[in-house]
Amino acid sequence: MNPNPVKITTTIANWKMHKTVVEATNYITSLGLSTQNLRTRVGVAVPFTAIRAAAEAARGTNILIGSQNVSGYHEGAYTGEVSCAMVKDAGASFCLIGHSERRRLFHEDNATVNMKVRLALEQNLRPVVCIGETIEERKGDKTQKVLEVQLMEGLNSLSAEEASSLILAYEPVWAIGNGHAATPQDAQDAQHECRKILAKLWGNEVACLIPILYGGSVKPQNAEELIKESDVDGFLVGGASLEVETFVKILHCHKG
Ligand code: PGA
Repeated sequence: MNPNPVKITTTIANWKMHKTVVEATNYITSLGLSTQNLRTRVGVAVPFTAIRAAAEAARGTNILIGSQNVSGYHEGAYTGEVSCAMVKDAGASFCLIGHSERRRLFHEDNATVNMKVRLALEQNLRPVVCIGETIEERKGDKTQKVLEVQLMEGLNSLSAEEASSLILAYEPVWAIGNGHAATPQDAQDAQHECRKILAKLWGNEVACLIPILYGGSVKPQNAEELIKESDVDGFLVGGASLEVETFVKILHCHKG
């Protein structure tokens, strides 16, 4: 297998529950001035309320705007939910699905992830599907099994064509938000495992087309080493994406 032969990476900021409309506009405007001649695709997953303003600020740049979640329902009596069509209409081109905070704090399971992925694909919203094991699962030697179940169930019944527009983010739960990223070897091993599972589902060609991002305490100091790994096709960055200067430093870490 030869993952990512062209070496174009994908780096996505995940602001989580941060930034007002004005803060989002200022950030995207300033990011837009720093994203020429990059060898990475750049995405920013913003709160629902900032999608439209962020998308307007990103016009004419190569920054893609996404949401951090979407509803698993098409439309109807689901108070508080935001549909794929609404997110798309506001200017998003991708959405995070199944982030570990959604799974842990809001009880999203793989079946919910699957509903959301299928709706997003229907609406031409590119799904960035997040998976990863907890520390207990890792210590119990269950990482491989957990990743396999998350992928098999979360991506159940997608065609090869649909699968080729996915982005995957491997985010070990034990590495998120605490400053302790996985080692490059641990990230590589898990992401290689994910690639093998994708290949089992849709064949090598599709498996190599799907970017597999690493997430969990990525910062400028560790990005350079992590990106050297062959199955690390980019990053999903939380805390270190909140300051535009820090995020830009990560964008400059590229393969080769
Ligand atoms: P972190 O978050 O970079 O702050 O660890 C990553 C994520 O949760 O997507």
